[in-house]
This record gives sequence, structure tokens and C-alpha cells, in this order.
Amino acid sequence: MVYVQPVIMPTHIIALGGSLLRPEEAEMRGIWFGQLRQMAVHFEGNGRKLGIVVGGGLAAREAIELAKETVTESYRLDSVGIMATRLNASILQQSLIEIGCNVNPKIPETTASASEMFESYDIVIMGGTIPGHTTDAVAVALARDCGSPHCVIATNVSHVYDSDPRKNPGAKKFDEITLSKLADITGKDTQGPGESAVVDPIAVKRAIEFGIRLAVLDGRDLSILEDALEGRPFVGTLVKVD
Ligand code: UTP
Repeated sequence: MVYVQPVIMPTHIIALGGSLLRPEEAEMRGIWFGQLRQMAVHFEGNGRKLGIVVGGGLAAREAIELAKETVTESYRLDSVGIMATRLNASILQQSLIEIGCNVNPKIPETTASASEMFESYDIVIMGGTIPGHTTDAVAVALARDCGSPHCVIATNVSHVYDSDPRKNPGAKKFDEITLSKLADITGKDTQGPGESAVVDPIAVKRAIEFGIRLAVLDGRDLSILEDALEGRPFVGTLVKVD
């Protein structure tokens, strides 16, 4: 008798920067969404699980700016940002449900409930959870809860740099670094409501604590995201556990 060894596929977790939804670029947005749908269908078809934590992007920035007219408490502004992340998450959720993907019909509010949803759904989509961090940190927590050893941070820059390449043309990019080196670059300060860094320092801190490897890449080109998910060499920065 031949015994077939069951293959346990790891759950892949992606922090999908809200800026990638690009409401300001109608033409590119359509193409990007179409490719993302294709990728999700392909992934699901291979029996793999995908967790997508969607960021707030423009919706969060605008809503937080508007709220700042009358709201001063940081955690309240964060709460507004969280709703924007969930709004963006629902756009992706509905887009994938419409083409028949097995996606969670309700957006979870904690990573624990999101990870339980993998028992019933192939693709679990969520936004933010509580004030004080961004969806990068949520994605790292979800990876931990799902027992995944890695987390992809899909953003709108190609790599992690040693300084901001928009301000410093001589900034050096990394193909590979360690989590502690990334922590040196991002610093330890938490971000204010609506503030953005290549990777949220809280996410880096959690990745160190949980031993989770990160892939930081430009999610505008979905072939790069697919390379990383498939375990192929990818254009971007691989952040290894020390
Ligand atoms: P994002 O996760 O979108 O932050 O959260 P970001 O770094 O700006 O990422 P992208 O690339 O635009 O998507 C937006 C804001 O929502 C609040 C914070 O104020 C954050 O700056 N937020 C989000 C939370 O407080 N908690 C969460 O779990 C998520």
C-alpha cells in the first residue's frame, strides 16, 4: 500500500497597502483589480489559503484630516482610520465574492476571529483592529495567529531603503536585511494617526517577537507579489529573522 503524505499548505498573509487601490487612477485601478482577482482565483484553485489585510490609503488620510477639524484625541482619529481600512477591505471582499471566491462574508475585527475563519473560507479579508498601529502590524499578528512563518508587506515602494529615497537621492536599497536592521531604520516610535512609513515600527517589533520573516515589495506590480507568494526570488526586500 502506498501512503500519501498529506501536504500542509501554509496560510499566506499579505498586508495590502490601501494606496494600492488607487482611487485616483481609474484606468490602472481596473487592470490591477483584474490581476488581483486572477491571482486570488489561481491561489484558491491550488488549495491554498490567503489572508489579506487591507490598508486605508486615501480614504483613511482624507477621513482623518476631516475628523481633525473637531477631534483631537489620537485614538479617536485612529478609530476613524480603522473604519476606512474596513471600507477598503469590503471593496476587495465584494469584488472576490462576486467572481465566486470562497471569501469571508463578514469583515472580522480581531486577528483571532480572522484566523478562525480559515476553517470555513479560503480567503479571509480584513482591515484594522484597534487604535495604535497600522494594518502592517495587524497582518503580522494574523500571520502569528495562523502559524504562518512569513508575511508580505505589499506597498507602493520597491524596497526598504536606508533613508527616504524621495528626500535622499543617494539612499541605499536593500535586497535582504534582518529584522533588527529594519527596526534600526524604522525606529521604535509609534506613528501618529494617518502617518505612513515603509513598514510600521510596531509591525517590525511584532515580527521580531513572533519570529516572522517579511517580504517588502511594490504591490502595484502584482507579478512581484505572486513571485513572493510562490516562494520565488522577488524584486523587493527580504527581511530575515536574526
Ligand atoms: P493603514 O494601515 O492604512 O496605515 O491605517 P498606512 O501606513 O497609512 O497604510 P496605507 O499604505 O495607507 O494603507 C490608516 C490609519 O488607520 C489607523 C491609524 O491611524 C492608521 O494611521 N489604524 C489602522 C489603527 O489605528 N489601527 C489599525 O489596526 C489600523
